[in-house]
Amino acid sequence: MMMTAIPPSRQVLTECVRTATAAPSLHNSQPWLFRIAGPTVEVYADPSRRLPVLDPDGREQLISVGAAIFNLRLAIRQAGYRCHSTAFPDRKKPDLVARVYAAGPAAATPAVEALSAAVPHRHTNRFPFAHTPVPDDVLDHLADAARREGATLTVATAAGRDTILRLAREAERWLRARPGYRAELARWSGGGVRHDGVPIWAVGPWDALEAVPMRDFAELMPLPRPTEKFEPYPTLLVLSTDGDDRTDWALAGQALQRVLLTATWQNLSTTPISQPVEVPDLRRRLTDPAGGRIAQLVLRVGHGKAVGVTPRRRLADVLLRSPEPAPRDRP
Ligand SMILES: Cc1cc2nc3c(=O)[nH]c(=O)nc-3n(C[C@H](O)[C@H](O)[C@H](O)COP(=O)(O)O)c2cc1C
Repeated sequence: MMMTAIPPSRQVLTECVRTATAAPSLHNSQPWLFRIAGPTVEVYADPSRRLPVLDPDGREQLISVGAAIFNLRLAIRQAGYRCHSTAFPDRKKPDLVARVYAAGPAAATPAVEALSAAVPHRHTNRFPFAHTPVPDDVLDHLADAARREGATLTVATAAGRDTILRLAREAERWLRARPGYRAELARWSGGGVRHDGVPIWAVGPWDALEAVPMRDFAELMPLPRPTEKFEPYPTLLVLSTDGDDRTDWALAGQALQRVLLTATWQNLSTTPISQPVEVPDLRRRLTDPAGGRIAQLVLRVGHGKAVGVTPRRRLADVLLRSPEPAPRDRP
């Protein structure tokens, strides 16, 4: 456990940015940019990496950036500093999602240590999970993780699960019929040497029972896709927020990453399932009318086998140059 009164060096914050980039993102688009300025890291959404067909409003882009912000905050805490962040701090810069400050010294708590240790082990798992249920106390722990970030995580009941799975299958059909969807999917998946996108080996088999609606990244790939039996009663969770603006989307991303890392810490595998929230009509049906909560993402959790690490862009490609100091600031 580190604790220091010295402000973090650029090198320390660069390592924190590296941790931020381990976050999940829609189709591994990694739609973020960072700028380090003194003890502050600015986190930007990169408009050139938004998926215009699947994500016309940039909602999932901001969820992805939010997940990176959570990792950044965690890494700063793990490096021995308090951390403050301001969402959308500059009206003139709409792509500046957050300014994250490393403040005075603070020892990492056991929770910070555990979540940090989970970062390199969290991966999207698109393979079958064991047929054993996830214990209730672990699910409570996940719901608490979402609550701590200001979001709500609801475990689907048996009836709710059937509805979500039906909506996800409906959404997958609707999306595939959408002009541009397949071309966009092809752009962000496949083989070859690249630092983004979903590689073929991460795609997983097709569910023989067609119960779990995995996104069909492999559809356009030239290989036959194997079929396996997935768990018949997947544990599904719905992540939701009170509002539905850009601040809520970035908040949902931070909650998502806290939940995913908590699940990893509890030895669970996870799959974000976003098809049902990509179709506005279907998304409305996932919204809890009584609580007024807006669905942002569906998560599948369970006990899965180990899967590999997907690629990330080089730090040089995501780190913006720091602004030149103004003349009066120069030594
Ligand atoms: C907002 C969002 C939506 C996602 N939707 C899906 C999805 O519908 N299906 C899926 O298999 N993975 C989904 N993912 C997972 C990403 O594909 C995954 O994070 C990315 O490929 C990087 O891989 P990793 O999570 O293993 O690091 C989503 C992730 C995010 C952040």
